[in-house]
This record gives sequence, structure tokens and C-alpha cells, in this order.
Amino acid sequence: MVNICLIGTGRAGMIHGRNMAGKIKNARLIALCDPMEENLQKAQSELAVKYVYRNYRDALANDEIDAVVIVTPTAYHKEIAIAAAQAKKHILCEKPLTMDEQECKEIIAAAKTNNVKLQVGFMRRFDANFQEAKKVVDEGAIGDVTLIKSLTHGPSQPKEWMYDISISSGPIGEVNSHDLDTLRWFANDEVASIYAIGGNFRSPEVKENYPDYYDTVSMNIKFKSGILGAIDGAQYVQYGYDARAEVLGTKGSILIGEQGKNNVLIAQQNHQMTRSTMNSWTHLFREAYVAEDQAFVDCILEDTTPLVTGYDGMMAVKLVHAGLTSLLNNRIEYVS
Ligand SMILES: NC(=O)c1ccc[n+]([C@@H]2O[C@H](COP(=O)([O-])OP(=O)(O)OC[C@H]3O[C@@H](n4cnc5c(N)ncnc54)[C@H](O)[C@@H]3O)[C@@H](O)[C@H]2O)c1
Repeated sequence: MVNICLIGTGRAGMIHGRNMAGKIKNARLIALCDPMEENLQKAQSELAVKYVYRNYRDALANDEIDAVVIVTPTAYHKEIAIAAAQAKKHILCEKPLTMDEQECKEIIAAAKTNNVKLQVGFMRRFDANFQEAKKVVDEGAIGDVTLIKSLTHGPSQPKEWMYDISISSGPIGEVNSHDLDTLRWFANDEVASIYAIGGNFRSPEVKENYPDYYDTVSMNIKFKSGILGAIDGAQYVQYGYDARAEVLGTKGSILIGEQGKNNVLIAQQNHQMTRSTMNSWTHLFREAYVAEDQAFVDCILEDTTPLVTGYDGMMAVKLVHAGLTSLLNNRIEYVS
């Protein structure tokens, strides 16, 4: 059994909490930690745990805890992950790993020195459709990969802090770090250059206070091997949550993802056919989060390398930074 402590009991935290409390083999959720009383109590009433903490340092002092899932706002990931590694706890950290590459390096080094697993929360890599596509691509069924496209659109109005791109990076960080990871994964390669353009189309009222804010972005990418990539991202699209990808090869193409919530298509007298859209990432990737959490527990028990490593987390952070630099300076950004 792996005894887990959930650190951060907000939106994404509760997904991992519910999984670890009942859906994951060989895992036991024994502790919750959150300084926000309201969230902590709500989590405690739903998830019966042995220990409850307001301060993560108290949780890390508990020898019964083997591993932590860090789901706090990104700004706190670094200090909590490093302290967890030093306390010899295995770490599943939500994406983005941190806000900058140097901090990622420090977390990776702490995990290595203390010999603990570090897995980063790119759950698309555990989604059955993405996994099948990856297998087919790697088997060569569509020939050589030439172009990978990926998009993520989020439905909700940004929270106030998200308009300040110095702390949120805007959609490139908030939503497209997943797409950047998807492209690296399918290309089996690293990015050589990025060119990003963007605009604020849906929130004109914030233009004065946040002139750099953009809600829509389009990125052109070139990998070191020459493979091409295209990503688009958007916030506040309102119609639903949308995540899709396409891999074009020399001998075929693969499409992944669709917006439909289910397969029910309703045809009516007005000659219109309708189908509900997917309203949240929590539904679209529900099973992927379970598989992600199971893989984390398995890699601890089997002493294997996590399927999404600290290095993957760091490369996504680096690419978010390169994309944002390109957008703000209106130039191609070369990645070393
Ligand atoms: N994989 C995904 O697709 C995905 C989706 C959503 C969020 N996330 C990531 O998950 C993280 C959390 O996002 P969220 O939307 O759940 O945020 P949230 O605001 O809903 O929840 C964060 C929780 O962390 C708590 N917290 C703050 N400081 C803490 C500390 N020092 N110790 C313990 N708890 C603390 C807050 O009180 C809050 O309850 C972010 O890094 C975010 O980018 C990933």
C-alpha cells in the first residue's frame, strides 16, 4: 500500500483525492492538507481520512505518508515539492511544474538526491485515445510524422489574476502547456523554434489595465528534426471545453478528440441536429486522471521511471516561456 497525502483540495485536487480514496489499487488516501478552511472541511466531509493538516510541513513530518499529490496554485509547487523530496515522499505534481525552468531544475535535483519518484500531471498522456494514437504513430502506421496540430479551448471567464500574464502566462501557460507536451510526445523530439501570435477578442474591458492580455493564441512550431507543429489556445470560448489533436504523417493521418459530451445526436422538426458539448476538462479526462494516479502508485511500488518525468514538466515550462516571449516581442523564438 502507498499512503497518500493530498496537498491542495481545490478543483483539480479533489479529482486526485477522489481517485486516491477509492479508485486506485494499492493506494490509500490518509491525509489532506490545505490552509483554506472552507475547502479543507468540504474535502474532509467527502473523503474520510486519518489526518488533516493546514500546513504542508506538518504533513511532511508524518512518517506514515509515503507520497504526496501537489495540487496547489503553481506558485507554491516548488517549495512544497522540494520539501516533500527532502522528507523522502514520492511526488505527483500538477502541471505546470513551476513557473520557470530554473525552479524545475531544483525540484528535479531534489527528487534525484533523495531518491523519490517525481511525476508531472500531464493526464492526456494517460487518455486512452491519445495513447492509442501514440502507439499507432510509433508503429509507423501513418509513415513519418510531418505535422502535429493540437488545440485546447477553455470555456470559463478568466479569473482576475489570469489577466496578468506576468503571473499566469495567459492561455499558453494555463491551457497550452498540455498541447506543448502532446507535441513533444508525438514528435519524440525537442522544439527548435516557436512563433506565437495572439489577441484579446473576448474581454475588451480589461485592455486598459492589462494591455498584454490575450485570450486567443496561435503558435507555429518547428522541431529539431524538421517536424512541424501548430497549436491554438483560447480562454472563455463559452461553448464548452475542447481538446483535439491531429497527427499528419507521410502515409496517413490520425485525429484525436471531439467536443461531444456523448454520442446522442438529436434531430428535430426544424431540420437541425444537436448534440451536447463537453463542458469541462474534469469530464473529458476523468478516466485519464484515474490512469495517471494509478501509474504514479505503480511506479512507486514497481520502482520504475514515471511515464511523465520532471524533465517533461521542465520542457513544457521552457516552451511556455519561449511561446510567451515570441508573442510579446513579435518574433520567432529559438529554443536551445
Ligand atoms: N491537469 C490539468 O488539466 C489541471 C487542471 C486544473 C488545474 N491544474 C493545476 O492544478 C493546480 C491547482 O489548480 P486548481 O484549479 O485546483 O486551483 P484551486 O484554486 O481550485 O485549488 C488550489 C487549492 O490549493 C490550496 N492551497 C494554497 N496554498 C496551499 C499550500 N501552501 N498548501 C496546501 N494547499 C494550498 C488552496 O487553498 C486551494 O484549496 C494548478 O497548478 C493548476 O495549474 C491542472
